[in-house]
Amino acid sequence: MSKDKVLELRNKIDFHNIPNHVAIIMDGNGRWAKKRFLPRTAGHQEGMKRVMDIVEVAKKLNIKYLSLYAFSTENWKRPQEEIDGLMKILVYYIRSELEKIHENNIRIQVMGDITKLPKTPKGEVEKAMEKTKNNSKMILNIGLNYGGRDEIIYGIKNILEDIKMGKIDEDDITTELFSKYIYTQNLPDPDLLIRPSGELRLSNFMLYQIAYTEFWFSDIYWPDFKEEYFYKAIIDYQKRNRRFGGI
Ligand code: FPP
Repeated sequence: MSKDKVLELRNKIDFHNIPNHVAIIMDGNGRWAKKRFLPRTAGHQEGMKRVMDIVEVAKKLNIKYLSLYAFSTENWKRPQEEIDGLMKILVYYIRSELEKIHENNIRIQVMGDITKLPKTPKGEVEKAMEKTKNNSKMILNIGLNYGGRDEIIYGIKNILEDIKMGKIDEDDITTELFSKYIYTQNLPDPDLLIRPSGELRLSNFMLYQIAYTEFWFSDIYWPDFKEEYFYKAIIDYQKRNRRFGGI
């Protein structure tokens, strides 16, 4: 798409109605690579470049929370070579981009059980969270070893623990309270969920949080997800009539 066309799209965005929280299932890296006779890891590498681009665009649009599905609890079933490749990409990008992310006042947060990650990526992720913990422009919330069902169980266990300790009573449990016991405790629910690559499913992503989220699907693969697609998703979102169960 030409620069003018991209700008034309951008100008259609209503800056008074920007989704506060955007969640993205970054899918299609493997098929993108296969189409080009490249190894799957090349798709992930290109996908990671889009992560950096989209973070930049989201920041400029004043999006406050961006949640990205990077590695699911089920992704451990992939060949070890692919898992190692993904972890290497993660480490490489944290090392090379953390300073810039920090300068941009972006806070890196993780949802998922990172204790199960190999030592180096785990250490780099912890370093990134610690360094950026006081940043306030945007929260970049990355799903790593993340599963929506897993998260619900994690929340239940946390709540049971607080009941046992006498901190809360069973009768205190509400949907709002439960939200404080899961990974996204300091984040509002996503307003918009984007899934490229043509699959029309949630793949265990943010199951509790997306009760009233607007969905946007597209056939293009994540490594092709340039800023114009982000603009298209937001423009479509702004046409939706959100009723949250009301009329
Ligand atoms: C889905 O594509 C994508 C992933 C499982 C990984 C997403 C990761 C990145 C964008 C790179 C950054 C990596 C980390 C860990 C931060 P797929 O492989 O399922 O594609 P396919 O459905 O076409 O095979």
